[in-house]
Amino acid sequence: MTPSTDLNLSLFERAKALIPGGVNSPVRAFKAVGGTPRFVQRAQGAYFWDANGQRFIDYIGSWGPMILGHGHPAVLEAVQKAALDGFSFGAPTEREVELAEAIIGHVPSMEMIRLVSSGTEAGMSAIRLARGATGRSKIIKFNGCYHGHADALLVKAGSGLATFGHATSAGVPAEVVQHTLVLEYNDIAQLEEAFALHGSDLACLMIEPIAGNMNFVRASVPFMQRCRELCTRYGALLVFDEVMTGFRVALGSAQSLYARSIPGFKPDLTVLGKVIGGGMPLAAFGGPRAIMEHLAPLGPVYQAGTLSGNPVATACGLATLREIGRPGFYEALGARTRSLIEGLAQAAQAEGVPFSADCEGGMFGFFLLSELPQNYPTVMGTDGTRFNTLFHGLLDRGVYIAPALYEAGFVSSAHTAQDIEETVAAARAVFRTLAAG
Ligand SMILES: Cc1ncc(COP(=O)(O)O)c(C=O)c1O
Repeated sequence: MTPSTDLNLSLFERAKALIPGGVNSPVRAFKAVGGTPRFVQRAQGAYFWDANGQRFIDYIGSWGPMILGHGHPAVLEAVQKAALDGFSFGAPTEREVELAEAIIGHVPSMEMIRLVSSGTEAGMSAIRLARGATGRSKIIKFNGCYHGHADALLVKAGSGLATFGHATSAGVPAEVVQHTLVLEYNDIAQLEEAFALHGSDLACLMIEPIAGNMNFVRASVPFMQRCRELCTRYGALLVFDEVMTGFRVALGSAQSLYARSIPGFKPDLTVLGKVIGGGMPLAAFGGPRAIMEHLAPLGPVYQAGTLSGNPVATACGLATLREIGRPGFYEALGARTRSLIEGLAQAAQAEGVPFSADCEGGMFGFFLLSELPQNYPTVMGTDGTRFNTLFHGLLDRGVYIAPALYEAGFVSSAHTAQDIEETVAAARAVFRTLAAG
């Protein structure tokens, strides 16, 4: 294809003239990997087609929501029916109650829940609630975890545990991040030190239980157990950001996996997004009644939204939850995802390329490293050039993975054994070029 016939390229040029970087969310611009972003024309099942009509096997699935693949008939029907009844009312609907019941039914650490429109909004509101409920200001987050783009969370570590974070974005005043302490993921000694210094001033500790914004790094069970114990001891709230892992790694979300190893384990607050909206703008946060009742109109913590609990989005979310709640759904999804990473590992081994991978439910990550990383510095120590070769090699062969080495991948129930085989064959061809280079 020549530049003059590449419709992705001409769309990108048009977009760049009007939209900063040509995209409405930065990672879509392919800045890390170079090249032209694919403009999606339509999607069905495990595939999407770009502006040139090329088909891709989609391992992003809108960055997580599309757990049933694109255009699932039951979800489409629910959305079309809801749209006919009205797009938005700004008044309560029965479907909001049904969705709250469905979510809480699967994630019982939440006794009450509030629906919002994005993961950013949910995370930001959960922190305000934690601060309002505890009367404290300081929060802990972890290096490499992403919780949306609220000001107080765009932070990197300061020079020591006594100094709080530095903003990672222009436009975030130092005063706004002065209460955010950034720690290294999976580092128990540092966690203990931080609580010893600041424990009684901490409103909450926020964590991605499986960090999908570091590709795929699990919080170890002892680390999570220590997070829980220290939060309880010092009266800080443990906030699970399950925007990505919620209903993606298990029907009970990541917290149900920790509860298998840590008896009685539950977070205080949970933040959800992505899958619960099935691809529509919908997210939520929830927790025990005693905490949630601090929210307006019952309590003094203000939180609101014109489109919150949107009737079309709740219909999409409910239909999605109905499908993924069917017996055997996660067993089949988990097996398919595992077959992908095992196939990739075998292909890498056959070509002599260092490779490690992990997965849970329909979420996976892999690294061109012989051992799985445990924290952000190790993830970012991966060779970016080799990743970019892999990314473009796969893209050229019709396989679409995240255009950045620190992003997780997603398999849907629409991915077939044949899709996995095709992907592994494409990867093997690229591994061969990597080994030769
Ligand atoms: C763990 C996590 N939290 C929060 C967010 C923010 O969600 P949103 O992009 O819907 O604002 C994301 C987005 O990728 C995420 O992965």
